[in-house]
Amino acid sequence: MIRAKIIGLGSYVPERVLTNDDFEKIVETSNEWIVSRTGIMERHIARPDEDTSDMCVAAAREAFASAGVAPEEIDLVIAGTVTPDFRVPSMSCIIQKKLGLLNAATMDIVAACAGFIHGLSVAQAYIASGTFKRILVFGAEKLSSITDYTDRSTCILFGDAAGAAIIGKSDDDSGILAIHIKSDGRYDELLNIPAGGTHLPYVGNGSVDPKLSKLHMKGNEVFKYAVRHMGDAALRVITEAGLTPDQVDLLVPHQANIRIIKATAARLGLPMDKVYLNIEKYGNTSAASIPLALDHAVREGRIKKGDIVLGVAFGGGLTWGAVLFRW
Ligand code: UT7
Repeated sequence: MIRAKIIGLGSYVPERVLTNDDFEKIVETSNEWIVSRTGIMERHIARPDEDTSDMCVAAAREAFASAGVAPEEIDLVIAGTVTPDFRVPSMSCIIQKKLGLLNAATMDIVAACAGFIHGLSVAQAYIASGTFKRILVFGAEKLSSITDYTDRSTCILFGDAAGAAIIGKSDDDSGILAIHIKSDGRYDELLNIPAGGTHLPYVGNGSVDPKLSKLHMKGNEVFKYAVRHMGDAALRVITEAGLTPDQVDLLVPHQANIRIIKATAARLGLPMDKVYLNIEKYGNTSAASIPLALDHAVREGRIKKGDIVLGVAFGGGLTWGAVLFRW
């Protein structure tokens, strides 16, 4: 069977930083609460004129350089995001235009924080079937555009970023060893944006509370499901690959909360020095979280050729997924 692998990675974070001290001036909170309950110290926020697709373009330029692939070689663009530039057309079409990816098909995937792993699983299937040879997968969010900065239980969590990965065929034993995605739509109301769809159109004329067009989360409950499903999904891909958790060299988890990450590592019996963390600098960047962390881990030398690398994510939907690579 043809095995898919990441052949190039790139990422982008906007310049502007919001620190915990800044939040002390915006809502009733403290640096101590935010750090101890989430592990976050700061997050990056996009400029008002900076769209999610602009962040993707910057991330993709790095990915093209690291893969040594030209834009015209891309057959398919997959963008995992809940904050596209427009409802129509898809963000992947906008990215296609901005990068001149004129030989590509395009699609967006809405799977919240698990959007990148969902995109990767689609890419893996297309590579394995021989349908496409070069696929550009994004996880990208401008969460600041859907954050309610009067809600202290959510606004301190989120940051903006983009990550890009170019997927191709593996010529050796490296690549995606196992990948798993899953959802449970019964818990749709635990993390949602109530208005803006057909159910409750947001028209901005005062008929719908503007706050309903922002993210709402029952953090406590989401936390419990995140811990359970991230651990289960991680163990599943490790087992499917015929490996055991102690063979994992680096866990690259979705950076939602340091306590969720520690619980996942503990479930796998992994020491924290085998866990990649950047939550303190970027907060929760939803779909961008895993590709941003993978890109930084590779550039910092934390991931080397031959390493067994485990990615695992969980988000609204509920959606989750895990992927195991031999790098
Ligand atoms: O990205 C994918 C999905 N998302 C997640 O995985 C996030 C999962 N959830 C979480 O990370 C955590 O639930 C949060 C960080 C969102 C909240 O932490 P928590 O420990 O679950 O806090 P809580 O919601 O149970 O609230 C505890 C207390 C409450 O006060 P009372 O009712 O006990 O008096 C909150 O009002 O903490 C209060 N609180 C805050 N206090 C200071 C909530 N937010 C803040 C805040 N500063 N920013």
